[in-house]
Amino acid sequence: MERLDKYLTERGKGSRKEVQKLIRSGAVCVNGTICKKPEAKLNEQSDTVTVSGEKVDGDKFIYIMMNKPAGVVSATKDNHDKTVIDILPDEFKRPNMFPAGRLDKDTEGLLIITNDGEFAHKMLSPSKKVYKQYEAELDGEVTGDTIYAFKNGITFSDGTKCMPAELIIHDKSRKNTAIVKICEGKFHQVKKMFAACGLKVVHLKRISIGNLYLGSNLTIGCCKKLTKLDIESIFIGNIH
Ligand code: URA
Repeated sequence: MERLDKYLTERGKGSRKEVQKLIRSGAVCVNGTICKKPEAKLNEQSDTVTVSGEKVDGDKFIYIMMNKPAGVVSATKDNHDKTVIDILPDEFKRPNMFPAGRLDKDTEGLLIITNDGEFAHKMLSPSKKVYKQYEAELDGEVTGDTIYAFKNGITFSDGTKCMPAELIIHDKSRKNTAIVKICEGKFHQVKKMFAACGLKVVHLKRISIGNLYLGSNLTIGCCKKLTKLDIESIFIGNIH
């Protein structure tokens, strides 16, 4: 059971004060009957709530796919730069949302923004083997030696060892563009892995997390709400 005002705040209907005002104004119905008590208790599973006649999405957790643009930081707050939370459209905003994992400021592509900490932990934990794929453009050609080094596990100059990673060249005529598959998220990991092989990453884009793909329809800077099936697909049939 949850208080009506808390329920509405958690589902993005305004601050606690704002939703209390809304409830007292008579705009909120519970199971078809106007409820003017902010403290009224709800059964989140079975009760239906409307605000001004519109049904409130009852799901407590929300999962947003963003095609992150370069130039914004993967943080909730920043004193200098715009964050991915700043550019999140209002319709997707809920309290306590955060990016599940970080992409560098200059990295583009698939980023999930959520308010579900348990999900983020599961998705990011290397032991869960959720592979993330990145498309990397480099300042030189990827050789067989680089592919072999990635497969063996790269060691950074400070001694940090990476887990084995896959490096694929899809287009043999463009050997300076490769797909990297990793299941860890060390700081600047992809850039540092290539740097250990003498290559500089000039453009980096994340294209998938598990079996969830960015695809080509979501333009840079745009967002879409993920379904339960989308979220499940992250964990089903991971590529090992
Ligand atoms: N590896 C990097 O180096 N940068 C990213 O943004 C993501 C992975």
